[in-house]
Parts: sequence; C-alpha cells; structure tokens
Amino acid sequence: MNIILMGLPGAGKGTQGEKIVAEFGIPHISTGDMFRAAIKEETEMGKQAKSYMDQGLLVPDEVVIGIVKERLGKPDCETGFMLDGFPRTMAQAEALDRTLEEMERTIDHVINIDVDRSILLERLTGRRICKNCGATYHVIFNPPSREGICDKCGGELYQRDDDNAATVATRLDVNIEQSAPLLSYYKAKGLLRNINGQQDIDKVFEDIANVLRGQA
Ligand code: AP5
Ligand code: ZN
Repeated sequence: MNIILMGLPGAGKGTQGEKIVAEFGIPHISTGDMFRAAIKEETEMGKQAKSYMDQGLLVPDEVVIGIVKERLGKPDCETGFMLDGFPRTMAQAEALDRTLEEMERTIDHVINIDVDRSILLERLTGRRICKNCGATYHVIFNPPSREGICDKCGGELYQRDDDNAATVATRLDVNIEQSAPLLSYYKAKGLLRNINGQQDIDKVFEDIANVLRGQA
C-alpha cells in the first residue's frame, strides 16, 4: 500500500503516522524527520535545511525531491510506503508522479487530516517529543503520565526549535498557501480523502484505518 499523509503543521501527521505504520507495516517516510536527522548529524544538507526550517519556510524543492527519490529506492519501500509531509508543493507532486512512473508504482490513498488553523497554534506550541524514541505528546491534549518523561521508554521530552509562536504562524501561512492546489490536484485524481482531525487521536486513527482497509 502506497500512501500520502497530508495535513497542515500540527494536524497530526506524525501522531497518526506512527499508528498507521504500526498497523499496516509500511515504512514511515517523513521529510521533516529526515531533515531533523541531517541537522543532528551536521551534514551539509542538514545545515542548508536548518536555515529554512528555523524561519518556518519550505526547504527548496530540489533538495526535498532528491532525498525522497533516494529513500523510495530503498528495499523496504518495495511492499509499500507512507509519505508524511511530502509532497508539499505542486513541483514536488509532479516530481513524485514522474518517480513513481519510473518505478511502475502508483499512489493508493491520499489522506488529508483536516484541522482549523486556530487549533493548530495551540497544538504546536504545546507539543513535546521524546529525545530517545521520537514519541509525540502534548502538555494538555496528550500528556505523559510523568511530566517531561516519555511513557514508552523513559526518555526526556523536548520542544522542537520551530514550535515557538512566531515560527508556527509562518509555517501555517506558508503551508495553507501551498496545500490548496495540491488538495485540488489529488481530488481531481479521485485519490483524496479528508479526515476530521478535530476528534480524539484514536477516533482519527479509526477513520483513517477504515479508509485504508477500504471500509469507508
Ligand atoms: P515537518 O516535520 O513535516 O513539520 P510540519 O508539517 O510542520 O508538521 P508537524 O510535524 O509540526 O505536525 P504533525 O502534523 O506531524 O503533528 P503532530 O502529530 O506532531 O516539517 C518541518 C519543516 O521541515 C517544515 O517547516 C519545512 O521547513 C521542512 N519540510 C518538511 N517537509 C518538507 C517538504 N516536503 N518541502 C519543503 N520543506 C519541507 O501533532 C501536533 C501536536 O498535536 C502534538 O503535540 C500531538 O500530541 C497533538 N495532537 C495530535 N493529534 C491530536 C488530536 N487529534 N487531538 C489533540 N491533540 C492532538
Ligand atoms: Zn520515548
């Protein structure tokens, strides 16, 4: 199964992505996670990406397209994949189409997690992530049982550099503008499914899983 997971920053792509890969056994390809890993490793690409991410801007298309293309060629993608946060521009969508055509593959589902902008600011500024295993929490909506400590592995929780109020506002504006034509593009192809992301985390997952199982 080949899936694209869309949604504005904070809509729940990471949260639902974790559940989808656990249930459906496909690799989770998050361009944001790939850039954060490159920043941590201090690679040239990481340094370049950081300057955009810190401002809440998109990393240039050619950089993003290159890393996704390389990732899709890895053996674990042969039985399926879930793209999280890619494509984010029409140029990326068109490049993805060309890559998949070369690989004789197609997209089965485009899931768009739909949440109002007003809610996203609060979600992002309250987000905390485990340094050790990457699990995502929220100080109010999904708190760990012990403050600052991951329930899954006991790791320390931290706040992402781009989750401050000013950067979040830019991220939302940039992504709202870029996502509109993409949603129309996938709707026209008959692939787009909108999921109400303003429900409990488990209910959102149930709705997504029903679509992926062909039961909705
Ligand atoms: P990326 O890492 O992809 O960030 P994003 O799109 O801004 O999305 P987030 O990871 O912030 O949010 P999410 O939807 O995963 O939400 P989450 O599940 O964590 O990208 C970062 C940057 O990298 C970009 O700004 C850009 O610079 C660059 N980049 C990446 N891809 C790129 C591309 N293709 N092209 C160009 N540049 C690119 O949830 C958020 C919070 O809400 C959590 O605290 C969670 O616990 C809580 N929550 C989740 N679901 C619910 C719910 N149902 N109810 C209540 N709370 C909830
Ligand atoms: Zn953890």
